[in-house]
Amino acid sequence: MSANARVIRGRILSFNDDPATSGASAHSLIEDGAVLVGGGRIEAVGEAPDVLAHAPEGAVVDDHAGSFIMSGFIDAHIHYPQTQVIGSYGAQLLDWLQNYTFIEEQKFADPAHCARGAEFFLDELFRSGTTTAMVYCTVHPQSVDAFFAAAEARGARMIAGKVMMDRDAPQALMDTAQRGYDESKALIERWRNRGRLGYAITPRFAVTSTQAQLDAAGALAREFPDCYVQTHADENKAEIARVAALFPEAKSYVDVYARAGLTGPRSVFGHCIHLQESEVAELVSSRSVAAFCPTSNLFLGSGLFDEARLAKAGVRIALATDVGGGTSYSMLHTAAEGYKVLQLNHQSWPALHAFYRMTLGNARALSLDDRIGSIEPGKEADLIALDPRATPALAHRMETAGGALEVELFALMMMGDDRAVRQTYVAGEPRKL
Ligand code: GUN
Ligand code: ZN
Repeated sequence: MSANARVIRGRILSFNDDPATSGASAHSLIEDGAVLVGGGRIEAVGEAPDVLAHAPEGAVVDDHAGSFIMSGFIDAHIHYPQTQVIGSYGAQLLDWLQNYTFIEEQKFADPAHCARGAEFFLDELFRSGTTTAMVYCTVHPQSVDAFFAAAEARGARMIAGKVMMDRDAPQALMDTAQRGYDESKALIERWRNRGRLGYAITPRFAVTSTQAQLDAAGALAREFPDCYVQTHADENKAEIARVAALFPEAKSYVDVYARAGLTGPRSVFGHCIHLQESEVAELVSSRSVAAFCPTSNLFLGSGLFDEARLAKAGVRIALATDVGGGTSYSMLHTAAEGYKVLQLNHQSWPALHAFYRMTLGNARALSLDDRIGSIEPGKEADLIALDPRATPALAHRMETAGGALEVELFALMMMGDDRAVRQTYVAGEPRKL
């Protein structure tokens, strides 16, 4: 019998493919289902009576009747040092960075501040049903150590990296091309693939890295091909003009990264709103990922992500909160705002497509779909229980849903947030505070 056996009972909803390409066969729903977890993994899934009959003696049973049991949400782009600048008034990207973010991030020189920030951040992700995230730390190596230590203590699958910045930022937040390389390399060697952790080489964006630093980041990506790369691209018009002035020899913003060897199947580019055709082509040919961050794009007035254009071209797409430019930790709320962004471009986003994106779709974007993102035996047991009647307003709304899955899911996505998350299981352990 496995250690810590637990049966999680509810309405089991899981994806095996993208509903945009596979239609109704992309998901499965077991109305009275159960998942048996043990040793941090999913051992069995099926009709509740069958799973219960085969569960080991002494297994704990968590009955979430009426709630959906899904894979934990995955957030493909978020900043853990920005939990105390989230919701800062009145600025667009470059001013917001200078006036708020770069001031806040200096506090992460203090390891105690890093530890407190990491603990809060992970608790908040779990409260919102997010079990895996791709995370920016600050320029300080201690911010990365604190984050990975807190994630490891919770048994969570997390990807993170030290921000590299060697120009156009306060002195206290800058490294150099060489220091950025050396410190990143030491962190990679300390944390990469330790347990459930992964490392992302993190040049912040082309505005704050010189060519020498981007080249150093590219060298790291070549030396450590199992590491990710994360950065920002084509978020804001003034930012794009700055990049064009800084790199006159490059064909475009994305080309700056491509020339440094930073595009590729493990590279995630935040925002990708104002892309030229040649940039779309580069993302496609390199199999890079564009992260759609709707609450951030609305809050910072950055622009409207063109999902249909990118999907049609074959760009891999992820969904992300981008806290603290983004204004919510909740992937449900993020999907709701994503729907509204697409509406403004006369595009649609059925609920099943959005829930796919939050789970298996983002797992695929991060090349983690062999481990997380769906409910299958052998996968890691990161699961959430989502109550579609969690609030009086939701319960009232569901009276007219008539039990129709798409209607329930859509209302849950539009009106839900952390209050809808009844429990978050990380490697099979309940972690919602
Ligand atoms: N571009 C460079 N840094 C950042 C950041 O911290 N947030 C956002 N939204 N965009 C960025
Ligand atoms: Zn960001």
